[in-house]
Amino acid sequence: MTSTVTNAVLALALGLIFLSLAGQCYAGSSAALEVEFYKGKCGIFDVESIVAGLVKAKFFKGPTIAPKFMRRALLYTVESAGCDASLLLIGGSSERFAPPNLSVRGHEFIDEVKDAVESFCPGLVSCVDIIAIATRDAISLSGGGRYRVETGRRDGFNSLAENVDLPGPQIPVSESIAAFTRKGLNVTDMVYLLGGHTVGVAHCLFFQDRLYNFQNTGRPDPTMDLELVRSLRSRCPQESTGKNIVSLDQNFLSSFIVDNSFYKQILGKRAVLQIDQQLALDPSTRDIVTTMASGRASDFGNNFGEAMVKMGAIQVLAGTEGEIRKSCSFIN
Ligand code: HEM
Ligand SMILES: *[C@@H]1O[C@H](CO)[C@@H](O)[C@H](O)[C@H]1NC(C)=O
Ligand SMILES: *[C@@H]1O[C@H](CO)[C@@H](O)[C@H](O)[C@H]1NC(C)=O
Repeated sequence: MTSTVTNAVLALALGLIFLSLAGQCYAGSSAALEVEFYKGKCGIFDVESIVAGLVKAKFFKGPTIAPKFMRRALLYTVESAGCDASLLLIGGSSERFAPPNLSVRGHEFIDEVKDAVESFCPGLVSCVDIIAIATRDAISLSGGGRYRVETGRRDGFNSLAENVDLPGPQIPVSESIAAFTRKGLNVTDMVYLLGGHTVGVAHCLFFQDRLYNFQNTGRPDPTMDLELVRSLRSRCPQESTGKNIVSLDQNFLSSFIVDNSFYKQILGKRAVLQIDQQLALDPSTRDIVTTMASGRASDFGNNFGEAMVKMGAIQVLAGTEGEIRKSCSFIN
């Protein structure tokens, strides 16, 4: 998998270029958000209840809704900032790590929710707020506790979330901290937010280098538990296309539960992504990881919820900025 490594290096090199573009994002007005912003704005209908009903129905058909929405929320946060680079401004074009359509899923359901909301309250609720509300509900249904989601955002005119760059999983902890810090999120927020990897999946492509040829050594990543190397290799054969998926939380009893088991796994050298493993090893993050791993699952839920609210307030458009998209797939 030499090419994966080369791509990572390329992405990092690109990241340095994106860093210098960071100033071009527009600032937005995070102070404008409120809990229950839509309350009483849609006649007798309650926007959050409409979303909640659909999310619940979808959840009982399958648990992948929480991870899909969480990743979506991350992408929309990035997108609404109006940046060419990512939320984290690390660049590393996602195309270098994944072909299109791999990383972002569940768009149809967002449109379904949007259509329902539009039919009761036309032109009122932004796509980015629908994502925020649905994400909160899906996390709560998945065991993560229910946080007070803020709303009042408007949609950006610029690119769709699909076009957003996210950092690659090989990003060093120090660079990740720096990137989150630039967005007003501290190292604790970052460790809580990456705890979002307690649910959902990753395609082999994103970690295949760790299984076969870590940093061109011809060997697996020495920080990965050998039993995990073996089981991931069977899921991700060396010459495969990298399109298979594995759970980010390798505790199979908890792969779709929003809890602190992810932190226990990464302390046991059982992280799938390199960045996740490094969180448990890096001196600047490992104490937070240890604290979360040894705490109660509900403590993680509360901390994660607060961090999600904080992330959701980054560079939002509000008031008369942006627009309310009619369809979440298209700019009006
Ligand atoms: C340094 C920052 C981050 C990196 C490098 C990163 C990387 C990744 C990668 C490579 C995947 C696998 C994608 C795929 O195979 O399709 C993934 C999935 C995911 N990430 Fe992150 N991520 C980061 C931050 C976050 C944050 C802050 C959240 C919090 C909401 C998050 C939540 C998720 C979820 C829920 C999934 C699973 C998606 C699914 O199953 O559909 N990530 N991440
Ligand atoms: C991506 O998905 C869309 C809609 O499902 C499809 O029309 C398009 O051909 C896909 N693109 C690739 C490269 O697979
Ligand atoms: C990080 O931010 C949170 C929430 O804003 C705050 O409670 C916490 O004290 C901060 N932690 C550090 C290490 O600065």
